[in-house]
Amino acid sequence: MAKLKFINILILTVILVNCSTDSSSPKSGWKSFSGDKNIEHKVDSVLSLMTLEEKIGQMSQFSANWSVTGPVMPDDFQPYLEKGLVGSIFNAVTIDGIRKMQEIAVEKTRLGIPILFAYDVIHGYKTIFPMPMGEACSWNLELIKRTAQIAAEEAAADGLHWTFAPMVDISRDPRWGRVMEGAGEDPFLGSAIAKARVEGFQGGTDWRSLKETNTVLACAKHFAAYGAAESGRDYNTAELSEHTLRNVYLPPYEAAKEANVATYMASFNDMNGVPATASKWLMTDILRKEWDFRGFVVSDYTGINELVPHGVAEDDKHAAQLAVNAGVEMDMTGSTYIKYLKELVEEGKVSEKTIDNAARRILEMKFLLGLFDDPYRYLDENRSKATIQKPEFMKTARKAVSESAVLLKNNNNLLPIRKDSPKKVALIGAMMKDSINLNGEWQGRGDRNQSVSLFKGLQEVYQNSAVQFSYAQGCTLNEISSKSINEAVAVAKNSDLILVALGEDFNWSGEAACLTDIRLHAAQRELLQALKNTGKPIALVLFSGRPLDLSWENENIDAILQAWFPGTQAGRGIADVLAGDYNPSGRLVMSFPRNVGQIPVYYNQKNTGRPVNFDNPQGDYRSKYEDSPITPLYPFGYGLSYTTFSISDVKLDKTVMERGGKITITAKITNTGNVDGELVTQLYIRDLVASVTRPVKELKGFQKTALKAGESKQIQFSLTEKDLAFFDITMERKAEAGKFKLWVAQHAADNTNELEFELK
Ligand code: NOJ
Repeated sequence: MAKLKFINILILTVILVNCSTDSSSPKSGWKSFSGDKNIEHKVDSVLSLMTLEEKIGQMSQFSANWSVTGPVMPDDFQPYLEKGLVGSIFNAVTIDGIRKMQEIAVEKTRLGIPILFAYDVIHGYKTIFPMPMGEACSWNLELIKRTAQIAAEEAAADGLHWTFAPMVDISRDPRWGRVMEGAGEDPFLGSAIAKARVEGFQGGTDWRSLKETNTVLACAKHFAAYGAAESGRDYNTAELSEHTLRNVYLPPYEAAKEANVATYMASFNDMNGVPATASKWLMTDILRKEWDFRGFVVSDYTGINELVPHGVAEDDKHAAQLAVNAGVEMDMTGSTYIKYLKELVEEGKVSEKTIDNAARRILEMKFLLGLFDDPYRYLDENRSKATIQKPEFMKTARKAVSESAVLLKNNNNLLPIRKDSPKKVALIGAMMKDSINLNGEWQGRGDRNQSVSLFKGLQEVYQNSAVQFSYAQGCTLNEISSKSINEAVAVAKNSDLILVALGEDFNWSGEAACLTDIRLHAAQRELLQALKNTGKPIALVLFSGRPLDLSWENENIDAILQAWFPGTQAGRGIADVLAGDYNPSGRLVMSFPRNVGQIPVYYNQKNTGRPVNFDNPQGDYRSKYEDSPITPLYPFGYGLSYTTFSISDVKLDKTVMERGGKITITAKITNTGNVDGELVTQLYIRDLVASVTRPVKELKGFQKTALKAGESKQIQFSLTEKDLAFFDITMERKAEAGKFKLWVAQHAADNTNELEFELK
């Protein structure tokens, strides 16, 4: 009976298909995402049946309250749901829960418009992959795309339509807890990864793939410059020039658009005095007009209400007016649209056209997902059971763990710990048996216990090997006692090698989890010192959500493997690396500072008028510190392997690039060691003279290549005029004629192969 209502809409839709006018036109101001006339007519047909209130309902999103990440609004949304005034719900997990709510929307409301269900599927849904910044360290775009695909497939099999990912915020500040969720400090790599993730979630760049039941809508966030928060404090102001914004921070958001991302999320922060949520310049002028984005924008969690404490809105009503007129189509949990937009329209402060187009953009996504054909098409218990945590997904996760790990130090080739060498290895540390913290932030609830601890992974991987393990915890993440130290030291003394696993609690990074001290917790440092005093060699495995200050560890520990928060298959993937079954290939995507005082420290900095002369670093009146080098401890792009590599014979096919032309760069890469491995070859340039100051280095290409021991390969990069372009003194994107330096390098501080070319 109730379903009839829904069918009625469809019938009406079909009738209206034939008589509807061209809605996607300059007159309406609406350009559809799909560009498909048939879908546009359907959207308009539904819209024509809706009251103003119902349209505003589409623009309202509520949280189902059982997995919230922020303050909960007091409004209970059930009455809105029953009146057909809810466009989207998030945090509603489980097929049953979603079905119940969808049934209300579809069968109990006047028009039966289906709800869009969203969730923070950030680095996996049930199969949890390494935290995004960790995974970015793989520099493996195929892998990154694949893990996003798997995340989408699992989420969609469990009833979800939309993920609030990828986060594409560039950040140069490891104090900021959310660095774990992005792709690091570089716009070029960040853009490539943004694209890979959007394509992974959405099943490619074609809107038609959104209808597949193994894809979800993606949401590029947080637009814009959320990662530029002053002093690394979450939600804080971002003060940055338009040049820095456009040349550094915006490229990954724009790359998401190029990959056809369906939605964006407005960021919490204010930028240069205007909160992003109220910024017409960002939401309309840049996003819609410059980039021609045709999906919709959702606010962040109560981001609209927060315009009041930001001090640009008098009250929630005023906040709603500012946000909707800026170009934010959906209010996440704030209830400002549902409460005030009708009045604002009646008072002439918001136009009906604005509401119509916002509702159209949201309705169109529901059509593209196939929800108007069948609102329950994502709710299939059998598909869910067959999909979630498939063995194949677990295998990919294990590989992703190994590929994300970055070997920071390896004195005397302490690692790998060969399975056939009869060694006694002391397993020590707060993270050795931990499984709770391994998923980092944001995973689906209830699955933390499933993650494989390093201890368990080691037992499996070293089964029947010549290696013997002993164990003592030594300390928790933040507590130590003389008893726990003594136990650990006793175990350590009776070993040939200490393998210690330390790091951060998952709550110390992620949203609203910023730090001013990014060293290991004092308890853990005390343990390390005690272990160091035994004189035994130490290999340290670090699980953390951010680059830490590892200056002491770099001085005192023999080998360091940065494992990040690796997810479900953590222990297995890391044990594979420790055993040498996988030769580490991860490269840093964020510089590791030597101390907090250096932050922000990033490779693509400006030269200044008084750069340090590295031949005389103590020279006076230079841009430097009295008490610390200016270089990072480990630079961007850095990471060791169990083998060594060389890059030689770097050649350009020409040294002058004509406008519209191309330069081809070739290089010989060689595995100069005794084991097979993978090299991430990186191409950097420097624009020597320009109308505005340019970075001392900029990444413009990279390739990850497998090389057998002793093997050489020829690789090739190309550069076009477009690759040399930047926002110049007149804020136009173009390449300026002149000289450029070029490096084919193993990391950002590798100057071995330096060449020059010129743009005519
Ligand atoms: C706030 C976070 O900033 C955002 O990234 C997230 O998607 C929402 N909460 C919803 O959980």
